[in-house]
Amino acid sequence: MGTLPPVNPRSDHDLDRAAGAALLAWYDRHRRRMPWRVTRGRPDPYRVWLSEIMLQQTTVAAVTPYFERFTQRWPTVAALAAADEADVMAAWAGLGYYARARNLIACAKAVAAAGAFPTTAAGLRTLPGVGAYTSAAVAAIAFGEPVAVVDGNVERVVSRLLMLDVPPKRAPARVAAAVDAMMPPRRPGDFAQAMMDLGATICTPRKPVCSLCPLRAPCRAAAAGAAEDFPVKAPKKARAIWEGVVFAPFRPDGTCLFRIRPARGLLGGMPELFGSAWDIAPPAEPFAFAPFAARWQEAGVVTHGFTHAELSLRVFRADAAGGLHPPAGAFWKAPEEAGLPTLMKKAVARAA
Ligand code: ADE
Ligand code: SF4
Repeated sequence: MGTLPPVNPRSDHDLDRAAGAALLAWYDRHRRRMPWRVTRGRPDPYRVWLSEIMLQQTTVAAVTPYFERFTQRWPTVAALAAADEADVMAAWAGLGYYARARNLIACAKAVAAAGAFPTTAAGLRTLPGVGAYTSAAVAAIAFGEPVAVVDGNVERVVSRLLMLDVPPKRAPARVAAAVDAMMPPRRPGDFAQAMMDLGATICTPRKPVCSLCPLRAPCRAAAAGAAEDFPVKAPKKARAIWEGVVFAPFRPDGTCLFRIRPARGLLGGMPELFGSAWDIAPPAEPFAFAPFAARWQEAGVVTHGFTHAELSLRVFRADAAGGLHPPAGAFWKAPEEAGLPTLMKKAVARAA
């Protein structure tokens, strides 16, 4: 028996109109109810536009009561354009991102002056506050334009369908091509919202429910059992390297010399060994940071990862005289009783 040829070997994906139809059938049964959605015909572009602006960076649950109040008070774009701006800003209070509200007013005035909303994504894009996502969403949902509507949910779904090997924001054309391949020509608005609902309810960031998913058949990540590995994240920026020196003098009774770090900043208020500041270059004169003159011996290097930097500390040790008087602010203490942060525990352990 020969090996089966790969499905669609020349393509980025295994997606087609049948996948889009399966998704729509799922949507017809499981769509979420939202006050701006209609079950038959095309929704009012004003209501679609208003909802999509409100939904930017805000959840459906938070938006719903605002949407109801806005559309009762200002039922048309002309009514909103004629409103007192202070009233609109006050009605927006609590939704956040107030630049959206100012753009909302500007956009309503532009549309009212023109007489109607532009009917294509390209035309909508020229309006204040309407970017790539919103123009595509309104064009698809209100005007039936078959454009790919890509938000964070859709990026996640598509990343999994394709097992996309780069972060979706780095491959917008591949994401859009996959969406386009599924596009049902007669229901682009429902398809767009079905993709969003699938991402919000089935293909969730954690524990996606692939067993209930209408796109299970063509999904590469589900077949590989690797859905949660997608979308892949952008590699973290390389962290800075900091260098420094610390000095661990031990008295015969096992105590070591510590001081308290400044209250603000990294490890603020925590005990530490004497030493240099942590900087991108090692200190030119390491012994200038010793608490006193002694026969310092190099004990090794300890490293520690902070959020923004990787710290590398050279550790010096010495045997100190029992009666040695410590510098101001310093105290002798048994290391295990000093409440040391992990970094300093590592340094003391290296020196002991
Ligand atoms: N998020 C933004 N717009 C949406 C819509 N129309 N349906 C579901 N989720 C959305
Ligand atoms: Fe997401 Fe699983 Fe559906 Fe693939 S099968 S799209 S991973 S829910």
